[in-house]
Amino acid sequence: MADSRSDALVLFGVTGDLAHKMIFPSLYAMVKRGTLNVPVVGVAFPKWTLARLHKRVTDSIRHGGGIDNKRALQKLLSLFQYVSGDYNDPATFAAIKTALGSARRPAYYLAIPPALFGTVIQGLGSARMADHGRVIVEKPFGRDLASARELNRIAQSVFPEDSIFRIDHYLGKEAIMNILYFRFANSFLEPIWNRNYIASVQITLAENFGVEDRGAFYETAGCLRDVIQNHLFQIVALLAMEAPSGRDFGAVQAEKAKVFKAMRPLQPNDLVRGQYAGYRREIGVAKNSDVETFCALRLSIDSWRWDGVPWYLRSGKYLADTATEILVELKPPPQRLFADSVSAAERSNYLRFRLAPAAAIALAARVKLAGEEFTGETRELYLSEEQPGEEAPYERLLGDAMMGDGALFTREDSVEAAWAVVDQVLKKHHRVRPYRRCGWGPKEADAIIAADGGWHNPIVTKSSGG
Ligand code: BG6
Repeated sequence: MADSRSDALVLFGVTGDLAHKMIFPSLYAMVKRGTLNVPVVGVAFPKWTLARLHKRVTDSIRHGGGIDNKRALQKLLSLFQYVSGDYNDPATFAAIKTALGSARRPAYYLAIPPALFGTVIQGLGSARMADHGRVIVEKPFGRDLASARELNRIAQSVFPEDSIFRIDHYLGKEAIMNILYFRFANSFLEPIWNRNYIASVQITLAENFGVEDRGAFYETAGCLRDVIQNHLFQIVALLAMEAPSGRDFGAVQAEKAKVFKAMRPLQPNDLVRGQYAGYRREIGVAKNSDVETFCALRLSIDSWRWDGVPWYLRSGKYLADTATEILVELKPPPQRLFADSVSAAERSNYLRFRLAPAAAIALAARVKLAGEEFTGETRELYLSEEQPGEEAPYERLLGDAMMGDGALFTREDSVEAAWAVVDQVLKKHHRVRPYRRCGWGPKEADAIIAADGGWHNPIVTKSSGG
């Protein structure tokens, strides 16, 4: 496979936020691991010098985890070139081509506003720079079904599908890859992993901070587009999919695509949209904005396995904590033999996947307390999964894309099917409900899940969680 490795990386949007926060630290990690040794051409509109770009890269690494290997940093800086230009101008692409020199198989990373994806891809096509190249596209891939289709059309008119890498960085997270592994490397789950034993599934992605300096972007997205249609839906697909037919990742992609297709399109009453107090005063945000910074919804998957099982998804900014957790609640035993289990308000049988921070899996069961009475309590069998030396998602995904390995990227049919689920409610929905900061969102969100015991709020207070 050595000859199929990308022999250069072109980073569109090199002066931007994503490059600073995520990509430079990943490139640094790759240099340290010895997996990056090709020219990196940074491209952006500002007329920066190479020295200024070096300063930005150094600053990013200093803030992103610290400079613990000066030689690696020097090596990384030495790989960089900088091209300034307008993405609408063919001269920009000509300058990139010159910078690429003899590289034959560059990877083009679009860390730019989504509205520019099509422009850059077409620019690469017109300049005949796509042959043997790869394109790595950041999320959100489109902003609804129609625009995703159009973007897929443009991308596929320039690059073959197996050279298009649509990033959802959640797929590069160890804890999320472990959902697939945990489900299909064990046999004990399969008999209970269906509508007969599972009462409901809920997933919360909570953040205790706001939109920060991304107000203008957020106004074009909102929570549903920003994290639910992609990150949370990907988690649902891994939890709900059937076993792939074999080891090859195409089989996993095919099973995931079936889940997206089986998701029932959402209707306005299936979701509650919220907006945190003070959002309208954020920079770049409209004074009368109706954009949601919180979203809670009930989803159905119309399949043999999941018929009648509600899936509850929730995410929000400025909630009480920063944590991502899945709770798979099992149905109660058919007979309530013990007095305490009749009245138990607490959850008793569930699987809890803590995805962040500090990944873990817990299986909760009732055990008897010592004494004459048949009363018990819920205890968790707890597996902690944090392992040293994990690759950060962007490092993993960038490395994979540059190797041409598309296993952890989203496929055209899945992206479009996921948009189809939310397409109607993107256009037609109830107004946002205000919520105070540092809580769990608007109270209206509780009604959505009231019939299934309410939301489980992941609290990150002790290492064993819960
Ligand atoms: C990004 C969203 O895709 O994911 C952000 O744009 C969000 O708004 C982030 O904060 C969450 O990712 P993580 O890896 O921090 O859970």
